[in-house]
Amino acid sequence: MLNSVVLSLAVLLSAMGADTVERAYDYYRYHPMHEISDWMEQTVKENPDVVNIVQYGQTYEKRVISLLKIGVNTGEKKKAIWMDCGIHAREWIAPAFCQYFVSQILQAYKTDPKMADMMKNMDFYVTPVLNIDGYIYSWANESTRLWRKNRSPGPADCGCDGTDLNRNFDANWGTIGVSFNCCSQTYPGSQPVSEPEAAAVTYFVGSRIDEFLCFLTIHSYGQLLLVPYGHPNFTAANYNELMEVGLAAAEAIKKVHGKQYRVGTSPAILYPNSGSSRDWARFSGIPFSFTFELRDNGTFGFKLPEDQIQPTCEEAYSGALHIITYAHDKAFNGAVAAAVANLWAVLLAAGLTGTNLM
Ligand SMILES: *[C@@H]1O[C@H](CO)[C@@H](O)[C@H](O)[C@H]1NC(C)=O
Ligand SMILES: *[C@@H]1O[C@H](CO)[C@@H](O)[C@H](O)[C@H]1NC(C)=O
Ligand SMILES: *[C@@H]1O[C@H](CO)[C@@H](O)[C@H](O)[C@H]1NC(C)=O
Ligand SMILES: [Zn+2]
Repeated sequence: MLNSVVLSLAVLLSAMGADTVERAYDYYRYHPMHEISDWMEQTVKENPDVVNIVQYGQTYEKRVISLLKIGVNTGEKKKAIWMDCGIHAREWIAPAFCQYFVSQILQAYKTDPKMADMMKNMDFYVTPVLNIDGYIYSWANESTRLWRKNRSPGPADCGCDGTDLNRNFDANWGTIGVSFNCCSQTYPGSQPVSEPEAAAVTYFVGSRIDEFLCFLTIHSYGQLLLVPYGHPNFTAANYNELMEVGLAAAEAIKKVHGKQYRVGTSPAILYPNSGSSRDWARFSGIPFSFTFELRDNGTFGFKLPEDQIQPTCEEAYSGALHIITYAHDKAFNGAVAAAVANLWAVLLAAGLTGTNLM
């Protein structure tokens, strides 16, 4: 009797605990890494049917890099969406967005048939913080707040730490928009994919490249949607379609809080660069690869006030959802349309459709 009372009490308390944690998580504040890690575990606990944690690499300082894999397990082969945040340490709004994005799709799939459909057809792979060492360093104190790179040591004779992970990917590596001075913010590393964080993404995504329809990498700031490529001498084969989708996403963003996002390649609207993950993804065959540069336009820069987290996430969600929905519908509804067309062709060839159909 006493035992069962104690047991019920324990069950009750743990249920209350879980509930309290869920309500307490504040998506509209910046969170240090340990809180984000706890949040990832909590998210799995609350959504065990559709969320898993996948560990897929290690940082220079030996921290585990993990993502949330979100989707309905249908037993079928699925397509996939990639999203990573926090490749640059100081861009705190990016991890905040990844967490918001996860919370939104997990709500939406219960109430919105479109999201339910997308979560049956696709898995969402979301890495809330890719550059974990750098993120922790940028939280250490005010003097390191604006750290951008990872934390690996530079060449022995240099005296500065850190590689710009978004110059380290195997995409025209080291050719433009980088500096080989290891103290520079755009030091691309000693060779393509020299950094464990870039290697983790390269191997995880690269080993299932045909699944991915979208590669969305989230940064701040500038209010931009960047399409491949960063090198001015290369043009994506689907550049026109990328621009069309990007411009429509910017329209969707503007509808939410009126913010204007510009759309284009990096050389056209920001600066040329090489070795970015966005370019690597497109060169590798992922059709819809975009860099998001979230708010703001320079007023607060990387130190975006917490009262802008909510509107920034709301508008960016709308933009991301536009791109994801477009990619999904092209792959799935497009496939249905093609199947119907094929069926007609077969019927026509077999003469089963009558003679007056022309
Ligand atoms: C700030 O944090 C860094 C990294 O932990 C440390 O090296 C540095 O000494 C700290 N500076 C101050 C002023 O506390
Ligand atoms: C782009 O191509 C032009 C013409 O071949 C060349 O002169 C220029 O150096 C190239 N730009 C870069 C950044 O490689
Ligand atoms: C940024 O946007 C704000 C508000 O829309 C505007 O007042 C400001 O002039 C803009 N600054 C730049 C650098 O564009
Ligand atoms: Zn960035």
